Amino acid sequence: MEAGGKSTGQTPQIGGNPFDPANDDGYRCWRDLKLAAPSLPPDDLVVEIRDLEHPTTTERMALLERIRRANMALYHCKLTEHRGAVLSFAEHFGLFHLDHNPAAADDGLSAIQVHAERQQGEFISYTERALRWHTDGYYNPPERRIHAFILHCVRPAAEGGVNRLLDPELLYLRLRDEDPDLIAALMHSAAMMIPAHIENGIELRPEQCGPVFSVHQADGRPALHLRYTARTHSIRWRDDAATRTAVARLEALLADPVPGAIEYRLEAGEGILCNNVLHSRSAFQDGTPDGRLLYRARFHDRITSS
Ligand SMILES: [Fe+2]
Repeated sequence: MEAGGKSTGQTPQIGGNPFDPANDDGYRCWRDLKLAAPSLPPDDLVVEIRDLEHPTTTERMALLERIRRANMALYHCKLTEHRGAVLSFAEHFGLFHLDHNPAAADDGLSAIQVHAERQQGEFISYTERALRWHTDGYYNPPERRIHAFILHCVRPAAEGGVNRLLDPELLYLRLRDEDPDLIAALMHSAAMMIPAHIENGIELRPEQCGPVFSVHQADGRPALHLRYTARTHSIRWRDDAATRTAVARLEALLADPVPGAIEYRLEAGEGILCNNVLHSRSAFQDGTPDGRLLYRARFHDRITSS
């Protein structure tokens, strides 16, 4: 393991992979940099965008600055129902590889709105019910990891539908400060198993077993990925003491109130651009003729900051 934490000039250099539970020096250096920039309140995360399809350099840099700090940014632009604008916007941030899940249309966007026939499991998104803490695509195979997503609001609900957002790096930091062994348990390749999705005897999706925290290269640096759902059914945790302890601590850290979590209700023309941060949604009541409508685009790319 490389040593880290030594300063060169004004910016400390992080040695090796700071997310490796065995790399204490690298972690300390990364942690110092992470905590040097205080969390931004929701209003400071919002960037005004004049034209979603063609963000200016200034707008783009403002969004990237927030993503570097918090792995997420919020934007506000004039109301648009133009699906292509969302995808064009994504490309300005290096997001090209859409996840074509079964709920997505041919262009890769999913229209998140109430569907009476979709009431179960992964389809809770398409009801008025609350969604618990999760990252997107936790049931995807490794080659279809979701590293980023955009959620763009066309029409909000009459009431409710508030998102909460949490930077996964903050969750990692709190767990690791408690005990690096918690991280090691959650990085195990068999930590979390999602059973196959079977309907009427037909397997629609095979079971997926994998880590909660994993590390990927992005922009030439190690980047943290979180695969998690707070659901308690249709999920099996690795059956050992270390995993049970780690999951209990993770759940405790996500019990209200969650320090650093952002609460925000997207209005028409607003959206979230993020590196698949942890998120939840409160229940809502539609009460409008057309109902709540959000476009969601999931990507296999992570947002590039250069
Ligand atoms: Fe989600």
